[in-house]
Amino acid sequence: MGAAAAAQLAASKRAGTSHERGEIEALVKGYSDGTLGDDDLLPWLRAVMQSGLTLEETTSLTDAMARSGTMLDWRGVVGTIVDKHSTGGVGDAVSLIAVPLAAACGVKVAKLSGRGLGHTGGTLDKLERIPGLRTDLSVRDFKAQVGEVGCAIAGASDRLAPADKKMYALRHRTGTVASIPLIAASVLSKKIAGGAPTLVIDVKAGRSAFMEDVDSATRLAETIADVGAALGRSMHVLVTDMDVPLGASVGDVLELDEALDVLHGREGGRLYDVSTAVAQAMLAGPHAGRPEIESRAQATVRHALRDGTARLRLDAMVRAQGGDLEAFQRPGQPEMLLFADRSGVVAWIDGKTIAEAVIAAENAESGIAGVRLLRQIGETVREGEPLLGIYGAGTAAVTADRVREAVRITESAPQPGPLILARIHREPRA
Ligand code: URA
Repeated sequence: MGAAAAAQLAASKRAGTSHERGEIEALVKGYSDGTLGDDDLLPWLRAVMQSGLTLEETTSLTDAMARSGTMLDWRGVVGTIVDKHSTGGVGDAVSLIAVPLAAACGVKVAKLSGRGLGHTGGTLDKLERIPGLRTDLSVRDFKAQVGEVGCAIAGASDRLAPADKKMYALRHRTGTVASIPLIAASVLSKKIAGGAPTLVIDVKAGRSAFMEDVDSATRLAETIADVGAALGRSMHVLVTDMDVPLGASVGDVLELDEALDVLHGREGGRLYDVSTAVAQAMLAGPHAGRPEIESRAQATVRHALRDGTARLRLDAMVRAQGGDLEAFQRPGQPEMLLFADRSGVVAWIDGKTIAEAVIAAENAESGIAGVRLLRQIGETVREGEPLLGIYGAGTAAVTADRVREAVRITESAPQPGPLILARIHREPRA
């Protein structure tokens, strides 16, 4: 496709006309191979921001982006292959728990991960805090490990959906990220290229997440479910609350440490609840939504945390990726504490502010940087009791200043709403 045809496509989108599949393929191909430049694609992205895309168009876009590079093929690996993705939120260490957990329960988890986006941390960054652990696995090693160990978490190679990488960079630079079809195509293209026939996607909604309002998050979840099913995948999409940080830790080392606690059998809390819900979705398969299947999956998942098999599976995955869990130094006491200046109930925790302070500290700190939430939302606290633990040998004072106002205490606070806001299941259509 040339520049004139791309301009015409943008004009027809602005006028509300739907594209043919071939037009979208040509646009993606042209931008990927450099025939089209940023200035050619940008008007179309802006037109999509304004007029949207139909489900068929979003499906064509996702497929074209997925096919822009290598497509993994899992034929020959025995078992149900599942991949999992979260749109990202503060304190979201779910993958570190749900991946070995689901593998311990019998599915094969081929988790392709990215780095943190904005103020939300990435699974790879957390996992790589384990000494020696590699995430740059070759496709061959990745597949062999999934087959033999039952799970692997690897960085998505540059050859997987390269069109998304290029388009996302342009969207990021030009303020064209916030479009549901563009986000759905971006998220899913990488997962479709990863080849797993079953996908579990955790769409986070709230002020500590990438999608701040529940309605947009739910529309994104439905689009992802419909497009994935149209491209032949069994789709399980959850919308989970992320108004406040998910776990009690913010920062790569602290989040890894907390995930290990859950894998060691710590029960309860929001991180535990979402991790078990995600693992359950990974197990439920085509019978998701049937109460007897759901409750069996729930019992299996909880048991695997209690009896240590999930933890053993993590050990095996870490060893296979060259890591040494024994050498991971679990964080001790924080460098500083921040105390409640009044008695009351924790009504609100500003995850974004905390995450931004932690990222700044992680960039400046050679040791452990992070913030531990010592009181969760809805808990009572008395004046003078500790609220936040600040880690960072050289950065704690600066972090403390930044997060001083991040916890709001009121006399009484409404109980937090549900954690799992929606569960959407679609069986493959193609
Ligand atoms: N995450 C992605 O991978 N892509 C987007 O467009 C937004 C969030």
